[in-house]
Amino acid sequence: MKLLLTGGAGYIGTHTIIELLEQGHDVVVVDNLSNASSVALERVEEIVGCSIPFYQVDITDKVKLSEVFSKEKVDGVIHFAGLKAVGESVEKPIEYYKNNVAGTITLLEVMKEHEVKNIVFSSSATVYGAPEVVPIPEDAKLSTTNPYGASKLIVEGILKDVHLSDPTWSVVILRYFNPIGAHKSGRIGEDPNGIPNNLIPYITQVAVGKLKELAVFGNDYDTEDGTGVRDYIHVVDLAKGHVASLKQFNTGQEYIYNLGTGQGYSVLDIVDAFSKVVEFDIPYKIQERRPGDISTCFADASKAFNELGWKAEYSLKDMSEDSWRWQKGNPHGYQ
Ligand code: NAD
Ligand code: UFG
Repeated sequence: MKLLLTGGAGYIGTHTIIELLEQGHDVVVVDNLSNASSVALERVEEIVGCSIPFYQVDITDKVKLSEVFSKEKVDGVIHFAGLKAVGESVEKPIEYYKNNVAGTITLLEVMKEHEVKNIVFSSSATVYGAPEVVPIPEDAKLSTTNPYGASKLIVEGILKDVHLSDPTWSVVILRYFNPIGAHKSGRIGEDPNGIPNNLIPYITQVAVGKLKELAVFGNDYDTEDGTGVRDYIHVVDLAKGHVASLKQFNTGQEYIYNLGTGQGYSVLDIVDAFSKVVEFDIPYKIQERRPGDISTCFADASKAFNELGWKAEYSLKDMSEDSWRWQKGNPHGYQ
């Protein structure tokens, strides 16, 4: 199949390109580079040994997006493009709704005009809010507490309605848990702007000496060691989940899958795993809880296994080693 990847120059997109090409698919990338570097795509080209068709286009620009669809006859879209920082979304709700919701609406309009009716959408475990049960099944109650999460839930609803209105659309919603790790080559990985908000890039930047110590946000949660528990999934496993989900294209159905490992690890488990990999103790200090954080979140990933034959394979050790290889080899990211 030939797939158009919006946001394909980003962290998850670049890893997905590699898995798609390995499975014999063709890709076209559309990205406005608002949170990515063209160097990431050059590195992907170096890994896969061929050039990747790339258009620096904003998905909210209907005219330019339509030109790409006219030029490239694609079978479907994997829609990664979006802004993703929870805290920033509280400060800039209009930008988040415009980019994530209005951008998706423009994309859907263009897809419809070009008769492309297969889409995979990057949703997030954030749509489960503070879950009532773990592991979390796909039919758990949904709620959000910030504009980023709300934008994901709104887009899920839009996609559901689009499919209901025209059952020739095939829609796959993938709810990612916490993607970490990097490609084995150490050439591509997560490259956050400024001081990282997320746990793993923070830890690796402490390990490489860019930051002094990790702040552990709270040790009074109702978990084994009191720190927050999450379902960390290797980005390459996640990328493979996208390839597996393509089997639902051209079925005229709507599907929702959790992409997680089904295993929860606490912040201190993660600190421990990274300390072993870097061979010294990662310095940390316990601090107040971060506002908006939940205690425990991990996936029931059985639906993706039963229906797509996909399950996460990489261990926490693999994820830690691969994150570290990327950070050590690229202390300043792609710069
Ligand atoms: P990323 O920021 O690395 O990738 C997103 C890409 O989209 C970037 O390259 C950015 O330049 C591009 N982009 C943003 N707005 C655009 C626009 N209007 N037009 C064109 N391109 C645009 O993020 P990622 O971690 O690779 O995430 C990919 C998707 O997965 C996002 O939708 C994100 O919300 C979702 N997601 C990510 C996580 C995570 O923890 N990384 C978890 C759950 C869901
Ligand atoms: N944490 C720290 N110190 C830090 C950063 C994080 O202790 O410096 C803790 C958090 O309190 C939490 C855990 O590490 O317990 C994971 O935090 P992250 O910020 O890495 O990830 P979140 O689970 O908060 O959120 C991430 C993405 C969201 C996405 C969600 C589910 O940031 O966008 O995973 O996919 F919605």
